[in-house]
Amino acid sequence: MDSPGLFVLLCLGVFDQAAASSVEEITWSYSGLIGQSEWSEYFPECGGTSQSPVDVITTQTRFDPSLSPVTPLGYSQHGNQPFTLYNNRHTAIIEMPEWMGLGGLPWLFTAVQLHLHWGNGGSNQRGSEHTINGMSADAELHVVHYNSELYPNMSAAMTQKDGLAVLGILIVTGEETNPGFNNILNYLSRIKHFGQKVFIPAFDIQSLLPEDLGRYYRYNGSLTTPPCYQSVIWTVFHERVQISKAQLLKLETILYSSKAEDPEKMLLQDNYRVTQALNQRVVFTSFSADSGKELSSGEVTAIVIGVMCGCVGLAVIVRFIVKTIRSTSSWDVLHNNRPAPMPRSLFHIITSSLKLCHTSFNCFC
Ligand SMILES: *[C@@H]1O[C@H](CO)[C@@H](O)[C@H](O)[C@H]1NC(C)=O
Ligand SMILES: *[C@@H]1O[C@H](CO)[C@@H](O)[C@H](O)[C@H]1NC(C)=O
Repeated sequence: MDSPGLFVLLCLGVFDQAAASSVEEITWSYSGLIGQSEWSEYFPECGGTSQSPVDVITTQTRFDPSLSPVTPLGYSQHGNQPFTLYNNRHTAIIEMPEWMGLGGLPWLFTAVQLHLHWGNGGSNQRGSEHTINGMSADAELHVVHYNSELYPNMSAAMTQKDGLAVLGILIVTGEETNPGFNNILNYLSRIKHFGQKVFIPAFDIQSLLPEDLGRYYRYNGSLTTPPCYQSVIWTVFHERVQISKAQLLKLETILYSSKAEDPEKMLLQDNYRVTQALNQRVVFTSFSADSGKELSSGEVTAIVIGVMCGCVGLAVIVRFIVKTIRSTSSWDVLHNNRPAPMPRSLFHIITSSLKLCHTSFNCFC
């Protein structure tokens, strides 16, 4: 290559780097000077029409039977190399090994990192980014992957359509301690401040996920933090994961967005973005609205009566068959060639059991 060409390339490279680092240097936050409502002034994509998170209104979702379960790849093959956990002032992040990935989507995705969003330990119960019918969960886990079939790395993929696939796991509190989450929570005290980083023992990432990976919401959206690139295929699981109240409180109160040496300490709380307009988008579901739904008392009554009728009918049929076999078999010993009068008795069995079913239905109602 001739030297003027090389010179131009070098200049472009330097320019690119300068532009990139100036964007990185803009210190955004969730509230305050460059809070959520100001993000789009500095990061234009944050003002786009396909932003995340969203409120999933379940009556407006659309069932897509072609959506098969997502399949974590290698999440449990964590090996012996420690994971890296760090505080980036916005959240706690674990870098994931590149052999972990995600299947069940139109392309193969390679895992990059996981992180959490949470509230402030107050009574308002907010903390998740996605909401269902306007209801928040207490916190939310995101597992980020890039499309390694179409793009060479995360930075190339994150700006492109279908570049990323993020799993969203809604977290609520219950009575029991979730041992999977302790693999992270136990080490938060070592990354209290922005910029701190520790190695933690590798663990089974799948232990952070719900059991049912077949039922989820799917839509096209964005990163939920600046620069808000609209490159994410979202999968938000229907099943929530439970942690204890003590575990949630630890998550909500242990980290700071300030540096260790900063005189003014800033708690890292309420690091969730408010829900964004769906605009023309549709949220698809991998499951139909009826399946797994709680049964109404009317439906329960109908099922009980149905089962009763069935049992009574079956008992009658069995009784008649036994009777018929007894009488015909004793007859058969004497008259070997006589055909059993089966059709007639079968007709009798069916009509009488139907009658019985009808009367029992009437008396139960
Ligand atoms: C990502 O891939 C692009 C395109 O091949 C390349 O220019 C860039 O240097 C890569 N970035 C990293 C961080 O590896
Ligand atoms: C996302 O966008 C792509 C391309 O526009 C489209 O083919 C796909 O159906 C969309 N997926 C969802 C879940 O809306």
